[in-house]
Amino acid sequence: MLRVLGIESSCDETGVALYSSEEGLLAQALHSQVAVHREFGGVVPELASRNHVQHIVPLVDSVLTKAGLNKTDIDAVAYTAGPGLVGALLVGASFAKSLSFALNIPAIAVHHLEAHLLAAKLDSPDLEFPFTALLVSGGHTQLFEARSLGNYALLGETLDDAVGEAFDKTAKLMGLAYPGGPLLAKLADVADEQACSEMPAFPRPMLNRPGFDFSFSGLKTSVRYFLQKNFPLNDFGTEIHNISASLQEAIVDVISQKSINAALKHNISQISISGGVSANSRLRNKLSENASKKGIQLFMPNLSYCLDNAAMIGFLASKKYKAKPADYVD
Ligand code: KG4
Ligand code: ZN
Repeated sequence: MLRVLGIESSCDETGVALYSSEEGLLAQALHSQVAVHREFGGVVPELASRNHVQHIVPLVDSVLTKAGLNKTDIDAVAYTAGPGLVGALLVGASFAKSLSFALNIPAIAVHHLEAHLLAAKLDSPDLEFPFTALLVSGGHTQLFEARSLGNYALLGETLDDAVGEAFDKTAKLMGLAYPGGPLLAKLADVADEQACSEMPAFPRPMLNRPGFDFSFSGLKTSVRYFLQKNFPLNDFGTEIHNISASLQEAIVDVISQKSINAALKHNISQISISGGVSANSRLRNKLSENASKKGIQLFMPNLSYCLDNAAMIGFLASKKYKAKPADYVD
């Protein structure tokens, strides 16, 4: 049995989790810095680093307490090596390497996006290679053919804004606080279907173009023009629900259709979604409905594994270690 302590500190969440190769997730804890960054309308890197320093040790202690274990019960420590904010990453990496040195256990560096990509496997062992993987977060929008552990062929990606960014920037235009994605999604949940159908539809960028690349900056601009024309005083009233739902529908249409097209073209019968936007309930419902119509199985991470978290770091590290233990021996 291998017990891996996972550490995630790439952006504005400090995550710690203890994952066992035999027993699954033993405990996890997460500290979100959203309240620290909200007044600035986005993540302030230096504040993020300092906040990680404050929280990492208490989080490790709380995870070990929850699991009823001691530091000496840990067999390996895994950390997010990138991509992410350099200062923030450094906190997790320094902590993990110090712990590895002190306990004489391996330190396993994990790629943040690979961890997101495999997050759906945490609860669903039925998700098997090869599968089509849609990764939609605040910084990335990519479609992969996941062929085997460590082997991911990029099928397409965004040429400009990420999906999460499209949600967040449009939400900002409507005066919602950072990060606006989940707030916008909540507003959309109670939209008036009839009113939405009477609104001019927002564009579905690149949906009818060949290939699997995406573009979302034009969509954001078209919402901006729509708002300037129809609500010059920003007095959206209850219309904010319908605008949010229409934008969400445009985004969800594009990413779900492209994922299904990619799976069909590559003759793959499973799709997984991951990253913060995979928590979006409209995406989860629509993609699962449309995928099943095509005989494709959809795998979605549990909501707590969609956003940044350390369970996915510990999980991937345990797979990497098991596949090539010799890589982690000094
Ligand atoms: O994966 P993540 O936690 O961090 C990155 O690595 O980027 O994703 C954060 C992104 C943000 O843009 C946030 O607005 C978006 O995920 N997000 C959502 C929802 N929940 C989070 N977007 C739409 N609907 C949601 N329910
Ligand atoms: Zn992430």
